[in-house]
Amino acid sequence: MFNIQDSGLSKVLTHATDMVADHAKGVYIYDSKDTEYLDFTSGIGVTSTGHCHPKVVSAIKKQAESLIFGQLNIVVHKPVLELIDRLKNIVPSGLDRFFFSNSGAEAVEASVKLAKRATGRSNIIVFQGSFHGRTHLTMSMTTSKTIYRAQYQPLVPGIFVTPYPYSYYYGWNDDETSSFAIKELERLFKSQTTPEETAAIIIEPVLGEGGYVVPPRGFIKTLREICDKYGILLIADEIQSGFGRTGKYFAVDHEDVAPDIMVMAKGLASGMPLSCIAYKHDLEKNWLPGSHGGTYGGNPVSCAAAVATIDVISNENLVTNAAIRGKQLLEGLKTLKKKNKRIGDVRGLGLMAAVEFVRDNKPDPETTKAVIAEAADRNLLLLSCGTFGNVVRLIPPLIVNEAQIEKALTIFEDALDNL
Ligand SMILES: Cc1ncc(COP(=O)(O)O)c(C=O)c1O
Repeated sequence: MFNIQDSGLSKVLTHATDMVADHAKGVYIYDSKDTEYLDFTSGIGVTSTGHCHPKVVSAIKKQAESLIFGQLNIVVHKPVLELIDRLKNIVPSGLDRFFFSNSGAEAVEASVKLAKRATGRSNIIVFQGSFHGRTHLTMSMTTSKTIYRAQYQPLVPGIFVTPYPYSYYYGWNDDETSSFAIKELERLFKSQTTPEETAAIIIEPVLGEGGYVVPPRGFIKTLREICDKYGILLIADEIQSGFGRTGKYFAVDHEDVAPDIMVMAKGLASGMPLSCIAYKHDLEKNWLPGSHGGTYGGNPVSCAAAVATIDVISNENLVTNAAIRGKQLLEGLKTLKKKNKRIGDVRGLGLMAAVEFVRDNKPDPETTKAVIAEAADRNLLLLSCGTFGNVVRLIPPLIVNEAQIEKALTIFEDALDNL
C-alpha cells in the first residue's frame, strides 16, 4: 500500500488526498487504477481550461520542439511577444508593461519591488486574511493563517495589516462592514504608517485562501480613490481570481477599477509555471535595468501555453460560462443551506464559490474536514480555506458543464447527509 509519508517527498507539504495522479482530462483526474475523480479544485485554481486541454497540449508540444528555453536577458522570443499582445487586450486599461516570473509569490515580490522604486516609499499595506505567498517577503504579507509564519519570525518589516471587509465574519451588513474597513484604513494612516511612507496597498479583489470573501460592492472603487488621494499605488493580486474565474476576465472588472499593478499566475498558463505583473509604463522610470529579473521567467513553453490558454478562454466563451455555471453552483449551494443548519454562509463570484460551516455561531473546521473527506470518498475533490479552516471552496475548471455542476451538488449534499 502506497504511503506518502514514506515516499521521500518533503513532509512540509500538506496533502488533501493520498491519490497518486496518473492522468487527467477536462474536469476529471484519474489514479493509476483509472478511478475517476471530479476535480472541483482545479489544482488550487490553476487548470482553468480543464486538465490537458488539446489546444494547450498541442501548443506546448509545438513550442518544445522548436525552443524550450530562451533566456530573456539574452534573447527575446516569439511566444512572450505573442503573450504580451494577448494580455494587452484583456488587462484593465492603462496597464501596458509586463514582467514575467514563475510563481505567484515571485510576481507579488516583483510588484512590491516595483512599487518601492516607483514611489520612493518603503511601506506596504495588506489586508487581514490575505494570502500572497510563502517566500520570506510574501509570507510577511500573508495573514490568512499563523501556520505560514509561526517560527519564521522576525518577518520583513514595513508591512501593515488592515481589515478585509468580511461581512459574514463581522456579522454586519455590507455597508457597515465597508465603512468599518475604510475607517480602520484611515486610522492606520494616522497610527502606524503615514500615506507619505506607504508605497502600495495590495488586495485580493476576492479573498482566496483567507475564506473566499467577496468584498461589498463599491469597496475596491473606494480603495482606488483613497490610493489616488494619497499617491499610493493600488496592487490587485489576481493570482487566484484572474483569467475568467469570477465571470469577468479579472475580479477588478466587476467594479471597473484599474489597479496600478496587477499580479497574475495560476489560471494564466493552464498549469505550466508562469506568473506576470502588468503595470503602467510610467511606473518604471526608476526600475533600473538589472534591478530585478530571474533566470526562468517568461519561459517560451510556458508562454506558448499561456497564449493557447487565453485563446481557449476567448474562443470557448469560458468567461461567460464561468458566470453562468457559477450562478448555478451558488444557487444549488444556497438551496442546500436552507436544508442544513451547519452551513452558515454561501458566497462567491462566478466559479469561485464557498460554503462556510459554523456550529453554535462558531467556526466549525471539523465539519468542513469531514465533508471534504466524504466528498473525496464519493470521487469529488474539494479544498478548504479560511483562517479557521471552516470554509469549503469549490473551484471547478471554467469548462465545467451543467451536468457536472449538478453532479457535484448531489455528491456534496450526500456527503453532508452522511456526517
Ligand atoms: C491570491 C494569491 N496570491 C499569491 C499566491 C502565491 O502563489 P504561489 O503559490 O504560486 O507562489 C496564491 C497561491 O495560492 C494566491 O492564491
